[in-house]
Amino acid sequence: MTSIPTTVPEKKLHDENEPQIPVVEETAASGPIVEGKTVGTPYADDAKFKLRDVEVFYGESRAIKSVSLDIASNEVIAFIGPSGCGKSTFLRCLNRMNDSIDICRVKGTLELDGQDLYDPRQDVVELRARVGMVFQKPNPFPKSIYDNVAYGPRIHGLANRKSELDDIVESSLRKAGLWDEVKDRLDATATGMSGGQQQRLCIARTIAVSPEVVLMDEPCSALDPIATAKVEELIAELSESYTIVIVTHSMQQAARVSHRTAYFHLGHLVEVNDTSTVFTAPEHEMTESYITGRFG
Ligand SMILES: Nc1ncnc2c1ncn2[C@@H]1O[C@H](COP(=O)(O)OP(=O)(O)OP(=O)(O)O)[C@@H](O)[C@H]1O
Ligand SMILES: [Mg+2]
Repeated sequence: MTSIPTTVPEKKLHDENEPQIPVVEETAASGPIVEGKTVGTPYADDAKFKLRDVEVFYGESRAIKSVSLDIASNEVIAFIGPSGCGKSTFLRCLNRMNDSIDICRVKGTLELDGQDLYDPRQDVVELRARVGMVFQKPNPFPKSIYDNVAYGPRIHGLANRKSELDDIVESSLRKAGLWDEVKDRLDATATGMSGGQQQRLCIARTIAVSPEVVLMDEPCSALDPIATAKVEELIAELSESYTIVIVTHSMQQAARVSHRTAYFHLGHLVEVNDTSTVFTAPEHEMTESYITGRFG
C-alpha cells in the first residue's frame, strides 16, 4: 500500500484568467484525451474485468466516453475525479446497477472472467452476488443485525441448516471487524447501530455471499475518522481475497488503500497507473491539477 504522498507536484499559483475547469478537453503539457485509447497496462488473460470502449448514456447525454480499462484479480483500484465526472456511473456498470435507471444505456465490451456482463442470459441476481456493492450511505435493512447478514445467504441458499447460517454470519461479521462489538446483541435492530458500525455491517452483508468483487462508492464519506480508519483497515484485509473498486473524493484514502488509481474527467478516463505514480508523477496535467487542488 502507498503512504500519503509527500512529493505531489507543487501547487501552482492561481491565474485569474485561467478557467478553474478546462473548457477544452486538452492540455498543452499532455495533449488531448484520446477517445478509445486503452489506458493503463492491460492484464490480458488474467484480467478480472476487461472493459473496452465503454460508453454510458443517460438519454442523449453521454456520461462515459469510450473508456477502456482492465481490472486485475485481488487488486484495489481507486476511481477519483471531480464531481459529475462519471465515477459512480462507471462503477455501477460493473454489476449492472445502471439497469434500474430507465434512461440509462451501456455500450461497449464489459467482461467478467471472460464472460459478457451484458449478455441477456446473464442472471443479474447471481451477478450482484459475485460483484457486491457498498454504498455511500449505510443502508442496513430494518431488521436485526443477524438477519441483515443472513439475508443474502438465505436468498442464495448458501446454508442447509441453522448452524451453517450461524457460521456464515459470524465469519462475515469477523471479517468486517464487527463481531466483538455485536456478538451479544445479534437480535438488536441494525438501524440502532452507529453510522460506522452500520457501514461495516453493510460490508459484512456484502461479503456474506462470498463475492469475488466488492464495489464501494465513497464508503467512508459519512463516517468519522475512527470509523474511516476501521473501514480502510478492512479494505486492506479484504484485498487478500477480493477485487475491490473504490470511488473516493479523498486523495489520502486513495493513496492509503489502493494499488492503482484511475483519474476520470468529464466522462473520460484520463489516466490510470500505480497509485504512487499518479500522486507523485502524474502523466496528464489534468490529473495534476486535480490532485493538487486546482480544480474539482
Ligand atoms: N440517474 C441519472 N439520470 C441522468 N443523469 C445522470 C444520472 N446519474 C448520473 N447522471 C449524470 O451522469 C454524469 C456522471 O454522474 P456520476 O454520478 O456518475 O458522477 P460522479 O463522478 O459519481 O459524481 P460525484 O463525485 O458527485 O458522486 C453527471 O453529469 C450526472 O448528472
Ligand atoms: Mg458518485
